[in-house]
Amino acid sequence: MAIPVTLILLIAVVITFSTTPYSVESSSDNNHVFSPCADSTIQKSDGFTFGIAFAARTAFFFNSTVQLSPCDRRLSLSSGQLSVFRPKVDEISLLTVNSSNLQPDTIGGYMVAFAGRKYAARSIPAFVANSTYIVTSFTLVMEFQKGRLENLYWKRDGCSSCSGKSNFVCLNNQDCAIRTNSCKYRGGTVDCSIGIQLAFSGTDKHATVFNSWYEVKNLRQYSLFGLYQNLKDSLTGQYNSFF
Ligand SMILES: *[C@@H]1O[C@H](CO)[C@@H](O)[C@H](O)[C@H]1NC(C)=O
Ligand SMILES: *[C@@H]1O[C@H](CO)[C@@H](O)[C@H](O)[C@H]1NC(C)=O
Ligand SMILES: *[C@@H]1O[C@H](CO)[C@@H](O)[C@H](O)[C@H]1NC(C)=O
Repeated sequence: MAIPVTLILLIAVVITFSTTPYSVESSSDNNHVFSPCADSTIQKSDGFTFGIAFAARTAFFFNSTVQLSPCDRRLSLSSGQLSVFRPKVDEISLLTVNSSNLQPDTIGGYMVAFAGRKYAARSIPAFVANSTYIVTSFTLVMEFQKGRLENLYWKRDGCSSCSGKSNFVCLNNQDCAIRTNSCKYRGGTVDCSIGIQLAFSGTDKHATVFNSWYEVKNLRQYSLFGLYQNLKDSLTGQYNSFF
């Protein structure tokens, strides 16, 4: 795997939507690919490994022009950080990256989601934070065709989830941001852990259609935190009182 060894592997958490029926046993994960820099073809109920690299926007481009996968050796991402996740395919999951481990404004402020090698897919770089603003809620859609990852993209809600909320600023008509100095790690009161809502679209290797994207797409970014009961005391509660 080509990810520079100097990247720090973060402890990342995958929390599954608590009302998802647990009809699927963990033993039904038949995907034996655990590296985010290897190719896999998945079916419903498999786990799927992908990575999110945090770095400066320019670090994701080769020769300032071509955006490459973070798995590509030609990029020098040594100053960034990497999180690896393995959610269950087609389950609605929330990924969290705890701000005790990651202060995104100090490591470049952008993130790229990626998976695969020969069939490498990567998202465009998403702004997370600078010294003024931080965006803590994202929705990532993973699009598969016949079980192979084809595309990764950030779904924005045009700031509808924070319109009229005085603590939020709408950046570029797409991201709800708060001030970085509201974060606990900057002396404020908010746990600025990054939450990434995940949804799957397209088809698995048996051409079975994924449904989780359909379930997520009409919900607003921050309102999704309310779905995760085990986050109630940390992330959910604080955004409810913040709004
Ligand atoms: C980098 O970009 C410059 C200018 O666009 C070009 O001349 C050069 O060949 C490129 N280098 C590589 C290795 O692609
Ligand atoms: C992040 O980690 C800190 C310290 O371990 C903990 O107190 C906090 O609740 C965590 N936040 C989330 C969202 O898990
Ligand atoms: C932080 O990002 C926002 C939105 O892109 C921008 O308007 C602002 O100038 C940036 N601040 C700094 C200090 O870079």
